[in-house]
Amino acid sequence: MTEPKRYLVTAALPYANGPLHIGHLAGAYLPSDIYVRYLRLMGKDVVFICGSDEHGAAITIRAKQDGTTPQAIVDRYHESLKTTFEKVGVDFDIFHRTSAELHHETAQDFFRVLNEKGEFTKQTSEQYYDAEADQFLADRYITGTCPKCGHEEAYGDQCENCGSTLSPTELINPKSKMSGATPILKETSHWYLPLDKYEEWLRPWIVDGQLEGTSHHDPKAWKTHVLGQCKSWLDGGLQARAMTRDLSWGVDVPSELEGAEGKKLYVWLDAPIGYISATKQWAKDNGKDWEPYWKDKDTKLLHFIGKDNIVFHCVIFPVILKAHGDFILPDNVPANQFLNLEGRKISTSRNWAIWVHEFVDEYPQLTDVLRYYMVKTMPENKDSEFTWQGFWESNEELVNKVGGVIQRVVTLINRNYDGKIPDIDPSLSITCSADKEKTSTYEAEMKAVQTHFNRISEFIEKYEFRNALAEFIQLADLGNGLIQHNAPWALVKTDPEATKVVLNIGAQVAAVLSVAMSPFMPQKANELRSILGLGEFEGTSAWDDTRAALANNKALLESGHQMGQPQHLFSRLKPDWVAAQVQKLEDSQTKETVYEAVKETATFDDFQKMDIRTARITAAEKVKKAKKLLKLEVDLGFEKRTVVSGIAEFFSPEEVVGKEVVLLANLAPRKIRGVESQGMILMAENDKGELDFVSPSEGFGSGFVVR
Ligand code: 2FM
Ligand code: ZN
Repeated sequence: MTEPKRYLVTAALPYANGPLHIGHLAGAYLPSDIYVRYLRLMGKDVVFICGSDEHGAAITIRAKQDGTTPQAIVDRYHESLKTTFEKVGVDFDIFHRTSAELHHETAQDFFRVLNEKGEFTKQTSEQYYDAEADQFLADRYITGTCPKCGHEEAYGDQCENCGSTLSPTELINPKSKMSGATPILKETSHWYLPLDKYEEWLRPWIVDGQLEGTSHHDPKAWKTHVLGQCKSWLDGGLQARAMTRDLSWGVDVPSELEGAEGKKLYVWLDAPIGYISATKQWAKDNGKDWEPYWKDKDTKLLHFIGKDNIVFHCVIFPVILKAHGDFILPDNVPANQFLNLEGRKISTSRNWAIWVHEFVDEYPQLTDVLRYYMVKTMPENKDSEFTWQGFWESNEELVNKVGGVIQRVVTLINRNYDGKIPDIDPSLSITCSADKEKTSTYEAEMKAVQTHFNRISEFIEKYEFRNALAEFIQLADLGNGLIQHNAPWALVKTDPEATKVVLNIGAQVAAVLSVAMSPFMPQKANELRSILGLGEFEGTSAWDDTRAALANNKALLESGHQMGQPQHLFSRLKPDWVAAQVQKLEDSQTKETVYEAVKETATFDDFQKMDIRTARITAAEKVKKAKKLLKLEVDLGFEKRTVVSGIAEFFSPEEVVGKEVVLLANLAPRKIRGVESQGMILMAENDKGELDFVSPSEGFGSGFVVR
């Protein structure tokens, strides 16, 4: 395998229909950001692409829910996503958007090329149509009963209860989300991509890594779960898939094509092309050429995504790229699995989520701790779990291990040598274990540092970020062990020369840690650089320089180098912090509202029989030995009534006196606890069982008819 000349790294374009939560971060954005930061520090030519996905049902449904336009939704969330990524240190070269004109042109050009090359077939089929809304329905716009598990709220493309992939016609009792109407089947024509036609090269490319003219050489580097999903798609046999839709929001099918009217590109055709249009925009903005990044086979193209996007990036988009003809294929698609939260699936509708912007705004100093913990619990190969306890423990680890070694080394060098790196005699031996007989040297320790550092590189290059982070902690442990076993604060009195060796190594470890932590915790890495008296990373190839220095036995901090003052890089969190965060999560949860079914039809005559009046409560007292009942005196203007009402658990007698209410006045009187009740006050009851009065506006007056 040859060394790539350049890298193009993409992170899944998030739908601009809501803010970013930790599941998104763990899935695609943090791993890609770490990888890219590493490549930049290696001095590589790399472009990091992302943007918002602004088409598709995800957007129009959200607009409908909020009672606004799709444009207003995408404008709001494009900005929100962009600033959140900046705040959490995910550093794209461009965060573009698929509503941009350049994107519409790019996607349409793609469509034209494929159409001219005869890659599409046109097919007519029957699809669900909402006659009331005068619209064909996107899969997500149809709900009904799942044929597999009976769940009544399944979507036209998927049942979220049992996870089955569905097609809308499989749903039992389908309903349109637009109008609530039962949709009808109506004929419509679309452009289809016959995926089966490409099986011939897809399988050898994905499974065996053999396809001439592509840069995908090594299927062994693909994650097992990604390959597994691809294989099962291939084994199941691929089918033609419609690449256009009858929609009002999206990229138009080029208008010169026959039958284009009212048709839009399928969002999963348009979105990945968004990577290309974003690269074009980046090139324009920076005076660069975009084409080599997409067309030269010396480019390594990588798509970072979550597992629900695998088929689109490993099958459909590669087919589109190859069918077009000029484009390279991805070298790897390192997809992650899903992150759960405190034992449950993350759910945006139930607000069981940690929203990244909320967290970083409230705790800006914990941004890198969040990144650290998210890597520690990253769902690289299987689903994983975010817990606040885990977060807290990770912070402790950073305080004790990383902060610990840095703090002690910097303090002692300041105290003993005015903050200057001491010159050493490298032939001296120092202790390297609890067993004082075991000794080591500067050179041996620096070799160990080199081994850890190189392993971190190897793990990052294999997308094994959790392992890379574990190795980083081992490097900190090496420094801590050395300080622990040699106790330089005491040793300085008995063996000042050996103390210099210990602290010099400690300083080298701190310098290497600053580089090694930079992709994971960029903000903290720069803070550490300043403590160590080193410049910021921006625009440097610090990783490659460190690698070279360690390989050539060159110190990272030369003798005599002046470092800064000690400062705490990380701070402890109080133990009750965990419970407070869990409580906040519980409290912010929105429960799904349960509505009572509407009763059997009543005729107008039925309604007319009821005499409902406005009234006013003039006196109230508790009914003895009945904790739910209040005895009320109700004034109807022309007469007074006694009414017993089951509201005592929600209202005290004092609270209700003076209330204007609505009374069912001709309800047959009945005795309740020995008191005759002459009517019923109408109350509303919500799904929590809470009661409230149904009242006319204040001062409306009593005794008037409600009809
Ligand atoms: O699943 C999603 O959030 C999609 N918006 C991802 C699109 S990735 C790419 F194709 F643009
Ligand atoms: Zn189901």
